[in-house]
Amino acid sequence: MSHSGYVPALRFDWLTPVYDPVVRLTTREATFKNALIGQAEMQGGDSVLDIGCGSGTLARLLHEALPELDIHGIDGDSSILGIAKAKISPNGEGIHFVQALSFLLPYPNESFDHIFSSLFFHHLTSEDKLTTLKEILRVLKPGGEFHVADWGDPDNFLMKLGSYMVMALDGTETTRDNFEGRLPELVLSAGFEDLKETAALNTAFGTIRIFKSTKTRE
Ligand SMILES: C[S@@+](CC[C@H](N)C(=O)[O-])C[C@H]1O[C@@H](n2cnc3c(N)ncnc32)[C@H](O)[C@@H]1O
Repeated sequence: MSHSGYVPALRFDWLTPVYDPVVRLTTREATFKNALIGQAEMQGGDSVLDIGCGSGTLARLLHEALPELDIHGIDGDSSILGIAKAKISPNGEGIHFVQALSFLLPYPNESFDHIFSSLFFHHLTSEDKLTTLKEILRVLKPGGEFHVADWGDPDNFLMKLGSYMVMALDGTETTRDNFEGRLPELVLSAGFEDLKETAALNTAFGTIRIFKSTKTRE
């Protein structure tokens, strides 16, 4: 259930230990996370933030793709961060996991070259999505890229049926924007000036849509 400011990965704390296998088996995880990484124009040394990083799978994939990246992951839930930290070697591999909420990111303005979010925004109300998007814009460097993968409007009737299961688990208050296809307009209303959908993947629980936006240079 909702804690102070966040909804756990599978809504209930007791389901957190099975988050990784559930996501791996039901969301075509490797395909969509590698597509998300593949759209980023990254160079070694770039600073990267994974917001709502959960169990750290995307952060690990980012490290494998480009070991010189300076990778930061934030999540509100200390339990799932424990799973993420256990996945990295004692030297940290250039990955820093921090417990924090998306509404007040613990970083100065213009800190990151890339910000990623995967299966995260459907955990937030419309108002919290907007607050978070404005924080993302604040900590992104001019010319920096924002990459989103999350549930979107279902591609067909079967996907609509799948999406009902996510709504039943995570609640309609936070998932409605996603399944009604309103994430792009929220991104634009927060101040991003462009957004394009780069891919859509049908899964057991609905359609995952992937977007990319770039923060305008002054
Ligand atoms: C479904 S999980 C996604 C995890 C990971 N990004 C992935 O793709 O597997 C959503 C995560 O967002 C975190 N979360 C939800 N609301 C948050 C908030 N306001 N600030 C930070 N983390 C939040 C939850 O604790 C959870 O770990």
